Amino acid sequence: MKGVILAGGKATRLRPLTSITNKHLLPIYDKPLIFYPLEAMARAGVEEVVLITNPEYSGHFLNLIKTGREFGLQITYELQEEPGGLAQAVSLAEPFARGSKILVLLGDNIFTQDLRPAVEQFKAQERGATVFATEVDEPQHYGVIEVDGDRVLGIEEKPSEPKSNLAQTGIYLYDERVFSFMDQLKPSARGELEITDLNNIYVNEGSMRCHTLEGFWIDAGTSHDELLEANIRAAELRRKGIL
Ligand code: DAU
Repeated sequence: MKGVILAGGKATRLRPLTSITNKHLLPIYDKPLIFYPLEAMARAGVEEVVLITNPEYSGHFLNLIKTGREFGLQITYELQEEPGGLAQAVSLAEPFARGSKILVLLGDNIFTQDLRPAVEQFKAQERGATVFATEVDEPQHYGVIEVDGDRVLGIEEKPSEPKSNLAQTGIYLYDERVFSFMDQLKPSARGELEITDLNNIYVNEGSMRCHTLEGFWIDAGTSHDELLEANIRAAELRRKGIL
């Protein structure tokens, strides 16, 4: 199993904070945001990780994270020259991860669940994919999942009329075939290759499973308010020794 962390994009929603560095290097309480997914990878037992960044601030990541040794990881870097979407960013991991199953984490998600049991279970599984989900109050801001037990029936990206309140988080497990599915994807209305379309390829072959994420989860990267909320919650959880 190899790890892929997506930390590209332009993060225009967080300007002017992101006019001086990449969103994933902004502070969340006492650490840069990117530390949270790096630590989650290490906790999950996935040590070989490729970090996908945009060229503009890639030097900032190198200065901070270096080889990844401090996290117990071996980090490789890959540049996404234009923000072509989450699936396009995942496709850039192919030279690094070809022939392996992958754990993909969005670099702006913070969560407390230990992924190791799910990763171990997925390693033993023959094929398919897993998406981690959580109940939210405003599902229209996320990919929204329809399920039957743990089987995923469909995922819609930011629908105006959500079919459930189950949001897809930024945590995904894919089998070795994932890179071969990329050429089936077409740019969405916003011109990006969407992770939701990639996930729906697995949904359509009946091999996408949904795990409900336990504990705390936040997408810190969507707005200044969410960034503030992430800081407050991270501070509370750290004081309780949870995060
Ligand atoms: O956080 C969960 C949500 O993440 C899901 O519910 C949605 O289905 C999924 O599309 C995604 O939505 P966002 O609007 O939050 O995506 P965002 O543009 O914030 O990008 C998520 C991460 O991926 C972020 O850490 C930056 C990185 N990224 C983004 C783009 C567009 C890249 O590395 N490359 C890109 O081209």
